[in-house]
Amino acid sequence: MKYLNKSFSIEGVRAKYLAKKFGTPIYCYSYKKLKENIISFKKNFKSFSPLICFSVKSNANVNLLREIKKFGVGADVVSMGELMKALKARINNKKIVFSGVGKTTKELNYAINKNILLINVESKSELIEIEKIAKYKKKIVNIGIRLNPNTDARTINQISTGKKEDKFGLTEKKFTELVKYTKKSKYINLKCLSVHIGSQIVNNLPYEKMLKVIDRVIRKSNHKFEFVDLGGGIGIPYQNKSKKLNYKRYSVSISKFLKNHNSKIIFEPGRSIIGDTGILISKIIYIKKTKNKDFIILDSAMNDLIRPALYGANHKIIPVIKKSKSSKKTYEFVGPICESTDKFLTSKNFQKLKEKDLIIICDVGAYGMSLSSNYNVRPKPIEILIKGSKINIIKKRQKLIDLI
Ligand code: LLP
Repeated sequence: MKYLNKSFSIEGVRAKYLAKKFGTPIYCYSYKKLKENIISFKKNFKSFSPLICFSVKSNANVNLLREIKKFGVGADVVSMGELMKALKARINNKKIVFSGVGKTTKELNYAINKNILLINVESKSELIEIEKIAKYKKKIVNIGIRLNPNTDARTINQISTGKKEDKFGLTEKKFTELVKYTKKSKYINLKCLSVHIGSQIVNNLPYEKMLKVIDRVIRKSNHKFEFVDLGGGIGIPYQNKSKKLNYKRYSVSISKFLKNHNSKIIFEPGRSIIGDTGILISKIIYIKKTKNKDFIILDSAMNDLIRPALYGANHKIIPVIKKSKSSKKTYEFVGPICESTDKFLTSKNFQKLKEKDLIIICDVGAYGMSLSSNYNVRPKPIEILIKGSKINIIKKRQKLIDLI
């Protein structure tokens, strides 16, 4: 993805062409970037070749899941719907893990029928429910237990999940109690310890602290875990100067941990695989000048991309056609929705824009489309995958008629 003769292009296809052909807004993904991300993720951790289970919640497009699957990647799912999509994409059931604090009986039943690799249990009640189903089906179910390592992920508060006040996983004490309980169960096979401390993590320290806690808890549990599932959470740089996680250092910490524990590592990455593969192409409807700033009113809104409104996330915005010479302006990029939080970014020193110009909101591959809604009865955007200059429609634009 880059400018070709000042026109932003995805694998050689101009964003301007896509906008003309398909209308806006458009979620557009680059296959090349996706491939690069998966290969480099694998390479970074090749010394212990982990099982990579792509976190479907970050992007649940079946066609993208199909592409991801071709690299031998599995899936981390959190609902029956996600599990169905993963299976539809033909992801190997023995590479699927199921997480979440509130799996219903129906969901557990379905997962057990599909013989997935692991159900990662988050409470004693859930374990008892699984045991009941397993007994009824006369089946042995493979599970993991999610530990709450009480570790601050040092990320955005709303996406931090590993502190004791969070609803996720079990405390050390409850964890070891549950391990003991499973030893007596005929229908439960405890294979895994799982954790996930948060998302958009760019600092190595929380991961290092987490590994220490896991090390201690495994020793205390006195159980041989075939798998240790470290969850996802690796952050990406949303701004040019953003801090990045040191992959090498994380890999070294895990290798050290593995010297004392002979387990297979599972990762559940979402954002680090898909985040920077996607852009949102939008058109300017109006420019509204006020005394202090100019509002750029786009045809995409918080229903298409809610991260800025929900987490105060800053996604870079760039013009589709770059001007070599232009006066610089301060713009506030907003959507047409009737809420003040429907705002993407304030940008200083932006090239001068005019109505009907096209812009790009960057790095929206993760938690972009998957968190989109029909708020204000707005149809969801089309999704396009560019693969080797070929334009593939991987999800049609919703039709208004279907919403009404
Ligand atoms: N595993 C579990 C159990 C998770 O809860 C999550 C994300 C992941 C893996 C994947 O994490 P990742 O590698 O993508 O960081 N909507 C928020 C992010 C919420 C993340 C929820 N859990 C956002 O837009 O930033």
